[in-house]
Amino acid sequence: MDQPAHIIDDLFAGLRRRPDVEAANLHAWDATDRLLLETAAAEGRAGTRIAVIGDRYGALTLGAGAVLEPEDLRVHQDLVTGERALRLNAGPGARFEQLPLGADLLAGAGTVLLQLPKTLAELEEIAAAVALHADRDAVVLAGGRVKHMSLGMNRVLEQYFTTVQPQLARQKSRVILASWPRSDAPATKFPVLEHLAELDLAVAAHGAVFAGPKLDIGTRFLLDFLPTMPAAAHAVDLGCGTGILAAMYARRFPGAVVTASDQSAAAVASALATARANNLADRISVLQDDALSTLPAGSADLVLLNPPFHVGAGIHAGAGLKLISAAARVLAPGGELWTVYNRHLPYLPALEREVGATDVRGQNPKFLVARTVRRALR
Ligand SMILES: C[S@@+](CC[C@H](N)C(=O)[O-])C[C@H]1O[C@@H](n2cnc3c(N)ncnc32)[C@H](O)[C@@H]1O
Repeated sequence: MDQPAHIIDDLFAGLRRRPDVEAANLHAWDATDRLLLETAAAEGRAGTRIAVIGDRYGALTLGAGAVLEPEDLRVHQDLVTGERALRLNAGPGARFEQLPLGADLLAGAGTVLLQLPKTLAELEEIAAAVALHADRDAVVLAGGRVKHMSLGMNRVLEQYFTTVQPQLARQKSRVILASWPRSDAPATKFPVLEHLAELDLAVAAHGAVFAGPKLDIGTRFLLDFLPTMPAAAHAVDLGCGTGILAAMYARRFPGAVVTASDQSAAAVASALATARANNLADRISVLQDDALSTLPAGSADLVLLNPPFHVGAGIHAGAGLKLISAAARVLAPGGELWTVYNRHLPYLPALEREVGATDVRGQNPKFLVARTVRRALR
């Protein structure tokens, strides 16, 4: 592995995360990427048709292209930021196809390189897709940081594959080899559809979506203020997840059209299914995008925002600040941004600075709801 190790070192050294948040303590690759590539080489997976799932910024895809000589190389990433980062890191002339999780990604694949996802639900949706579509003799190499792995992951894989073999950990990462998809594997249950009694709303959720089909407690608090929000012609649910805010707003304000937008493919697919399940799809459209980058400036009169506060494993406010700036850009002057966030986060100055005059509409022991009016352009 001397030669490939060198190639991997050089490749990883040049990787960046943009357009995702960049900071000195946030990295574009981790030891799992390296371990997955080295294990794939050691297991004789070079020269096969390779599907990559869950690559963050391109380390796995570009690494596989550089050291595994794949017959073909396909990749699925849930986040549009990851897709864009991969393309930027690849530069012109790189050879891989970016595809949704499904048959086009997996048909004929002999090797699947998987960065294990955060939740068992996401792993289950991925495992079901691989078992259904990949080659019968495909080998899945599923890797993660040991501290984020659980026996539950093995159990999920065992539902879909006959052989599941955890390998020895190295540098705090571990690879699980899964092979021989089970003929009696359960059919996929995603998106799950649940009725939220407290809102009388059907919520659809793919495996990777925030909060699954449940109501986040911050979102619940923001919804308390729905009756006091203005009636907008165009409202945006920014970072929509399953689209609960979009659906609740559209239902309460029948004159509004709503854009539900998220960087996650699973989120926008869930939000669309939620809109359909509640007969609101004629007024709710979904947009997979990074911080509304393709929505024209000044095109919305209301933005609803429950920002993320986890970036990767570390808590970092950068992702929330990015969405506040996005709201400032898409709001027309006089338009309103309604935000709910954990009280300890330093968003108030950013709301005032980026968007305009802000008043705190409510607080509970954990959260704060702020209304910010977009100032006129100077
Ligand atoms: C706290 S969750 C809120 C989800 C949903 N609005 C709810 O209330 O259940 C934040 C959401 O923001 C999305 N998000 C984070 N960064 C984003 C970005 N740069 N562009 C678009 N969406 C983003 C995440 O994918 C996640 O779904």
